[in-house]
Amino acid sequence: MSRVLLKDVRPYGEGEPVDVLVDGEVIAEIGADLDTDADEIIQANGAVALPGFVDLHTHLREPGREDAETVETGSMAAALGGYTAVFAMANTDPVADNAVIVEHVWRRGREVGLVDVHPVGAVTVGLKGEKLAELGTMRRSVAEVRVFSDDGHCVHDPLIMRRALEYTKSFGGVVAQHAEEPRLTAGAQAHEGANAARLGLAGWPAPAEEAIVARDCLLAGHTGGTLHICHVSTEGTAEILRWWKSREANGRVSAEVTPHHLLLTDDRLATYDPINKVNPPLRTDADVLALRQALADGTVDCVATDHAPHAAQDKDCEWSAAKPGMLGLQTALGIVVQTMVRSGLLDWRGVARVMSERPAEIAGLTNQGRLVAAGEPANLVLVDPDAEWTVRAAELASLGENSPFEGMRLPGRVVATLLRGRITAHEGKVTR
Ligand code: DOR
Repeated sequence: MSRVLLKDVRPYGEGEPVDVLVDGEVIAEIGADLDTDADEIIQANGAVALPGFVDLHTHLREPGREDAETVETGSMAAALGGYTAVFAMANTDPVADNAVIVEHVWRRGREVGLVDVHPVGAVTVGLKGEKLAELGTMRRSVAEVRVFSDDGHCVHDPLIMRRALEYTKSFGGVVAQHAEEPRLTAGAQAHEGANAARLGLAGWPAPAEEAIVARDCLLAGHTGGTLHICHVSTEGTAEILRWWKSREANGRVSAEVTPHHLLLTDDRLATYDPINKVNPPLRTDADVLALRQALADGTVDCVATDHAPHAAQDKDCEWSAAKPGMLGLQTALGIVVQTMVRSGLLDWRGVARVMSERPAEIAGLTNQGRLVAAGEPANLVLVDPDAEWTVRAAELASLGENSPFEGMRLPGRVVATLLRGRITAHEGKVTR
């Protein structure tokens, strides 16, 4: 088994630099000036060491849209972004609503081997919202699916949502809801507000999200099921979650926020560039500030990318024809550092919590989101907190190039990522 020595790292950015010896798949020892005959040495120059990131919300597009992303290219982007586990959303073609598809995605993830790929199963057949998919069969498959979502679509029928919460409860599953009341967002193109009105775009009103979140918290409480809210985008949703979490309630509710909703607003509409089209849409300054606060105080549990690559022809077209979605895996850390660390809202322990520990707990992963300590699994990311880099979408590993952060300077560069003791990315290059 190979031994990797990480020289001069600062676990959680705390204290003097130490050395971390990784032996096989575990962290063997942490201490000053470890002298060993390691097979590989990474000189980290004081980089911050954190548990590898876990993304609860990634679109890998395989099967069906391999022109936008594949399990392989998405895994490369994940490793380069500091991730050691990703959850691959079910809105593929065909939809991942059965054991055959989830096993295929799981297997491809294993073959590529850069990041643990956990397929998300659809809640309903074909994402149509009409009939529960075979959740138990997906759970019992080799992919051991635990997180279910119709993401891209809302499970809008309250009875189906109730049944999904009840059924997944029987095997410790999680229902991840894309909260969007479809009757309120029919034809919607952008956040309902002055900017959309000026451009004549049909609006996506905040209560379309908030009404579903409130309803589903109540259903989780009633059934004792486990609910996760995808891509929270409004101040009102944060308020509902805060209220819910302050109660002694039955059932468990968690929530994620995307990097883009922590940084960008619907002022971007002024460009009329579909690179800024995303669902839920970019909202207001007040929403952005409320979401940062909610992430800092734990009301929103974690950051999830909603990495949504699209082929050029699906973005380089007029706004109404463009597909919603943005790249996220390689820029997430930089945006979290910029919006949460540099603003003093989170320290590095906090970054570990929102990008690794909480997502791992929510999904029931026991080998991810662990401490940077001797005896723990060596799923790690090393971050140079001071290095800044310029986003060039064409240079990112994803096949799609739809990054709204093109040309931005971002802080916090990934020096290296390790998956079970193996270096998967180093100095901006994937290593296999
Ligand atoms: O912007 C989005 N893109 N939001 C979603 O919910 C789905 C995603 C996609 O699949 O492209």
